[in-house]
Formats: sequence, C-alpha cells, structure tokens
Amino acid sequence: EPVAPLRVGVVGLGYLGAVHAACMAELGHEVVGYDIDQAKLDALAAGRAPFFEPGLPELLTRVSSGDADGSITFTTEVADLKACEVVFVCVGTPQRKGELAADTTYVQRAFESLADIVEGPALLVGKSTVPVGTAARLADDLAQRAPHLELAWNPEFLREGHAVSDTLAPDRFVLGTTSERAEALLRRVYARPIANGTPVLVADYATAELVKVAANAFLATKISFINAMAEVCEAAGGDVKVLADAIGHDDRIGRKFLSAGVGFGGGCLPKDIRAFMARAGELGADQALTFLREVDGINMRRRAKVVDLAREACGGSFIGRKIAVLGAAFKPHSDDVRDSPAISIAAMARLQGADVVVTDPEAVANAQRLWGDLTYATDTDDALRGADVVLLLTEWPQYVNLDPAHVATLTRGRQVIDGRNVLDPAIWRKAGFTYRALGRPNA
Ligand code: UGA
Repeated sequence: EPVAPLRVGVVGLGYLGAVHAACMAELGHEVVGYDIDQAKLDALAAGRAPFFEPGLPELLTRVSSGDADGSITFTTEVADLKACEVVFVCVGTPQRKGELAADTTYVQRAFESLADIVEGPALLVGKSTVPVGTAARLADDLAQRAPHLELAWNPEFLREGHAVSDTLAPDRFVLGTTSERAEALLRRVYARPIANGTPVLVADYATAELVKVAANAFLATKISFINAMAEVCEAAGGDVKVLADAIGHDDRIGRKFLSAGVGFGGGCLPKDIRAFMARAGELGADQALTFLREVDGINMRRRAKVVDLAREACGGSFIGRKIAVLGAAFKPHSDDVRDSPAISIAAMARLQGADVVVTDPEAVANAQRLWGDLTYATDTDDALRGADVVLLLTEWPQYVNLDPAHVATLTRGRQVIDGRNVLDPAIWRKAGFTYRALGRPNA
C-alpha cells in the first residue's frame, strides 16, 4: 500500500528522536531531523547510531541511501523545519537536580522555537514524557503565539534494545487530540502500521500524557512486587523464581516483568515514577501514588542487598578483596548506564573498600565517562582474573552462558553472585563455586 508522504520534522535526536526519525522515513515520509549536536548528526547521516541499538545502523543506512520509500536529512538549523506538515518533539525531560520532578525546559524551548519558525498550517506533536498538564499549557501558548499550528500529544512506548520494531509495529498508538484534523494527519503518518492492525486510541491531552507514565509506573510496580516477594523468600527460605513461574502462569498476572533481581534502572522507569509522584503532589493527589515511594524503595534496597551478599562472600569484609562485576548497562543489548543497578552496586562495593573491576560488552565507554573513578576492563577474562567474587549484574547472553570451569581457571575465589537469577546454580556448584542469588535459597 503506497503511503501519501508527509514532510515530517523531528526535534531532538536522542534515543527516542533518532529512532523515530529513521522509522518515519521507513514508513515513507520525507523526514528532516534536527538537533544542536553536529557530531550526532554526522554520525546519524553516516549510518552510525550514537548509542547501541540493534537494527538501527542498518535502518539509518537504508533510509539515507534512498532504498526506503521515504527519505531523511539532518540539520542543526531549526529553520529547515519551516515547511514541515508534522513536527515531532522528542527532547528529554530529565529529573531536576535534587528534586523528584521532571525538568520540562527543553520541551518548552522546542515548542517556542517551532512556533516562530514553522510556516504551517502544521501539526506539532509532543512525544516526550511530560508531567500531566504540560500539553494543555503548550496548546494555550500556541493558540496565542502561532494559531496556524495545532498541538497533539502522542506518547512513545519503545524499549531500548527493541526500539526499531517497537516504533514500526507498536502495541498501540495513543493520539492525544480532540481535533479531527490532527487525528486524521496522525493516522496518515502511521498509515502503514495502522493498516497492519496496530490499535489506535484517541484521548484528550491529559489522558494521553497519563497513559505513558501509568504504563511505566505499572511496569516498575510489577518488578518491585516480585522483588518484594524475593525479600520474603529470603526470610522464609523460598525460591522466587519458581514462585514467579507459578503465579505467571495465571494469564491475568503474566510472567513478563516478573524477573526478580537487582531491580530496574535506566533513563525512564526510575525518573518517571519520581516525576509522577511529584506531579500528583502538585495536583493534590499525592495519596494516590504514595505506593510508588515503596516501589522505588524496594528497588533501591535490592542494590544494597547485593552488596551485602558480596561482602558475605568475601568473608565479612571487602578489604583486600577483588570483585569482578559482569555488566554495566542497565539491561542487556544496551550501552545505556543511566541509573544502572550494576554501576551503583559496583560503586557501593568500592566505597566499602573492595577492589572492583567492571566489564560490559557495550557500555564500558559510557560508564567510564560518567564514573571515571571505577576500574574497567573491556575483556571478560581480564575482569575475572584474580577475582575473589564474581558478580553478574546485567544478563548479557555471553555472561549467562559463561562456562564455570573456564571462570575457575581465572578467579582466585570460587564465589559467584547471580544478581539476575539467570545462571544455573547446579552447574556452578558442580564447578566448585558457592552460588548466591536474590530471593533463592543460598544453600
Ligand atoms: C521502559 C519501558 O519498558 C518502555 O515501554 C518505555 O517506553 C520506556 O521505558 C520509556 O519510557 O522510554 P526501557 O527503559 O528500555 O523501557 O527498559 P525496560 O525493558 O522496561 O527495563 C527496565 C529495567 O527493568 C531494566 O533495568 C531491567 O533490567 C529491569 N527489569 C525488567 C527487571 O529487573 N525485571 C524484569 O522482569 C524486567
């Protein structure tokens, strides 16, 4: 089915924006990607993603070389967006320093510059995760400053590591708009996936904004629920992995996002639940979300628990002990170290006197940039050599499939801690290791 191409702009080529821009070209549109960072644009134009995302380099190469139905160009000049019919705003909303709330400055600025530049008539579409109420405020501003521009809110649900397929074939589209014209235009943008059966939900601004944070709050709650069960299993001598399998068979519960371990990290879940609590407080609805404080608390407690297990494995003190930390990224198939449980555990162990070496197949450079005082190895064997304790904190397949007999030829101690419940305790024990995990019997 040929798509009637639209001139689509994308503002902010971070994780979300870069993937969205490439996917819009793949869907047949003429895309202009805008960012202030020339180095990032050069990389994208050359088919290199500035972050590790499976499938994205191939897609960028395809859409830049004219092999796709659509096309893509990159610019640092916001004026190059003036003839766009639809402009997506994909800039970040980081947690404010020392506060729970999100910082919406970049979103605000992006809309202000678009209001001055885009000739219109055009639709500006917010994709960033924002505190509920932001879209209504931006729409009021636009009505004043640029009545030829309309606003819609269209949250994004992509997962790092699956970003391309999540964007081209999402579980659903949420179109936050009450305007028929805006809805029709968004349906044209996403014509192909909609024709393939992706459901569309149309909502007002507030609901569209809330769907996004509600989804992330639910996922975070699900993970903390199973990690709370892990704490109870530790106290009672139960096995949380069996428990998760068993309750997960009930399809009202479902096994996904019930993997107990060091908990959630990354650039979204931790920040989003905190910003959601802060916003609910401003709205006088803080009581509705006090449970999210508990969700955050359970999550952070798991990190401290792993440090305790590691110290125990060292015989009660980290002094003079070497710890090999396998994994730095907040999850496998990513080089993202934002709020990574692995890094925070490594840092805590080091603070308590351990000699810590961190390794990761993709995330060492990013980790080094942000936490330069930790020691890193790019090679797994180098990290393992001489270690008293092996700590698995990110479940990359190469760590899950490590041969304990090989590991034993490198390490000084025979202690392994499985922070993600992904190793087979039997084979590690058979190779002479003491195996410890979260929420499981450590006999
Ligand atoms: C998350 C959501 O899953 C996406 O739907 C959403 O669009 C995105 O945030 C966002 O707001 O942009 P992502 O941050 O890529 O995506 O990571 P997830 O796959 O959700 O994993 C989050 C964390 O939970 C990871 O640290 C992971 O290791 C941990 N996790 C996940 C568990 O500890 N246990 C599980 O069972 C599942």
